[in-house]
Amino acid sequence: MYFLSVISALIALGQACPMHGLPDHVAAENNINVANLRKRGWVRPAPQKIAITNVHIFDGFEYDNQTSTVLIDGSFIGSDAANATIIDGKGATLMPGLIDNHNHPTTIADLKNLSSYGVTTTMCMSCWVATDHCESLRNQPGLTDFYSAGFSAVVPNSSHSKLAEMNPAVNAPEYFIYNSSMCPGWVKDRFNTGSDYIKLVAEAYPPSMTKDEHNIIVKTAHQYGYWTMTHASTLDTYNMAIESGTDIIQHTPADEPLSDASIAKILAGGHYVTPTINIYQYTQAATVSLGLTTEQTANLNQTVPSNVKRIYDAGIPILAGTDGSINSNGPADIYFGSSLHQELEMLNSYGVSNVDVLKAATSRAAVAYNMLDRGVIAPGMRADLLLVRGNPLVNISKTREIEKVWIAGIEYEG
Ligand SMILES: *[C@@H]1O[C@H](CO)[C@@H](O)[C@H](O)[C@H]1NC(C)=O
Ligand SMILES: *[C@@H]1O[C@H](CO)[C@@H](O)[C@H](O)[C@H]1NC(C)=O
Ligand SMILES: *[C@@H]1O[C@H](CO)[C@@H](O)[C@H](O)[C@H]1NC(C)=O
Ligand SMILES: *[C@@H]1O[C@H](CO)[C@@H](O)[C@H](O)[C@H]1NC(C)=O
Ligand SMILES: *[C@@H]1O[C@H](CO)[C@@H](O)[C@H](O)[C@H]1NC(C)=O
Ligand SMILES: *[C@@H]1O[C@H](CO)[C@@H](O)[C@H](O)[C@H]1NC(C)=O
Ligand SMILES: *[C@@H]1O[C@H](CO)[C@@H](O)[C@H](O)[C@H]1NC(C)=O
Ligand SMILES: [Zn+2]
Repeated sequence: MYFLSVISALIALGQACPMHGLPDHVAAENNINVANLRKRGWVRPAPQKIAITNVHIFDGFEYDNQTSTVLIDGSFIGSDAANATIIDGKGATLMPGLIDNHNHPTTIADLKNLSSYGVTTTMCMSCWVATDHCESLRNQPGLTDFYSAGFSAVVPNSSHSKLAEMNPAVNAPEYFIYNSSMCPGWVKDRFNTGSDYIKLVAEAYPPSMTKDEHNIIVKTAHQYGYWTMTHASTLDTYNMAIESGTDIIQHTPADEPLSDASIAKILAGGHYVTPTINIYQYTQAATVSLGLTTEQTANLNQTVPSNVKRIYDAGIPILAGTDGSINSNGPADIYFGSSLHQELEMLNSYGVSNVDVLKAATSRAAVAYNMLDRGVIAPGMRADLLLVRGNPLVNISKTREIEKVWIAGIEYEG
């Protein structure tokens, strides 16, 4: 009992003050096996100071042609380099850790893969497995920081409800949308079960939610002060998303070129767009959920790049997301971590400049989700950092040349 209460007091302390680990003398006096606690993720490694010197910095906004020093002080970026361990960053670029704005991790192994590729924050766009399963991915010290929509707003028998029903751990019926009068309560349930934002699915073909249901869900979420994300992959569903006033539109219209009128409405509505180009590389998966004609499918490789370019050229803010998912929890096997680097390369090849591609996975993403403690290198921010060889402002693939990754100041090794 005594042992347990000491542990809970220490855990409470650790949470109140994340920069401080368990002091060695406290561990010794209480006969606490620190290594064992660390394995369970209860105790952070002792705070340390690391100075990365002689390094070029992409701070989330721009590349600094001069080299300088960045200090990791515990979980945060600091400013006093006294007594820090030095890492020579000559020839490298230090950038904010990457944010994958759309994926579906379900296991700790998925988070490890994300971490190893420098993805320090991940926005899960629906968890089709039991909600408490995804909850267990939160707050894992030293691993990718996990946020989730929980269960998406989908109607029974729709193409996306099938993804949920594939998983026997889900007692799906109680999560579905049946009519507009239940929508406010459904939104409330999401927040009461830990969702960070709401995900809606505008299906490309029936059955699908009505316009009323979309509008009510978005309006209710906004009343609670929460963001909404809408899956939309055709012109009609884009319009449904725009009219509902959703915050971030997920995917790219794949059936037809976006009209000038739609572009103007996206701009006027202040929507962000996460194109998720990765998913369109998996033609079969894409068309099963999109219901495209043979001709439209054959033209995917023209329609998607040109719509992404039109969105970008119009000045609509783009976010980088992959739709990463494996083991049947999503529409295709898109590997966690590596796919985000591929997304950055594809955005770049479609005409998005290097600096805008990097912002789409760092500072712009942090602003879009109101995560104002990250996405930028500056004193006081979370020490979510990625050290890469070379300059990704010149060659975007240099984000793959990873030397080191820190997540809230903890180096990811392995
Ligand atoms: C700074 O670097 C960028 C890209 O690396 C380059 O285009 C630019 O000319 C450089 N500016 C100066 C002042 O050296
Ligand atoms: C650095 O280390 C020296 C010697 O151990 C110590 O006297 C000094 O207070 C330390 N400075 C800081 C800022 O920790
Ligand atoms: C991690 O990603 C690599 C490829 O990027 C893949 O081969 C491997 O299976 C993934 N591991 C897990 C556990 O998903
Ligand atoms: C879903 O489809 C099944 C048959 O496949 C049907 O029995 C059921 O009534 C449908 N549910 C709704 C809500 O339409
Ligand atoms: C809406 O659906 C819910 C859940 O199935 C049901 O309890 C409720 O009676 C329905 N309301 C209306 C007005 O149909
Ligand atoms: C589209 O491009 C990808 C490679 O980027 C290729 O694998 C795929 O076969 C192409 N699809 C069509 C329909 O040409
Ligand atoms: C860009 O960087 C990648 C990764 O280091 C490398 O394989 C590729 O050759 C580079 N491309 C150019 C044009 O230098
Ligand atoms: Zn998705």
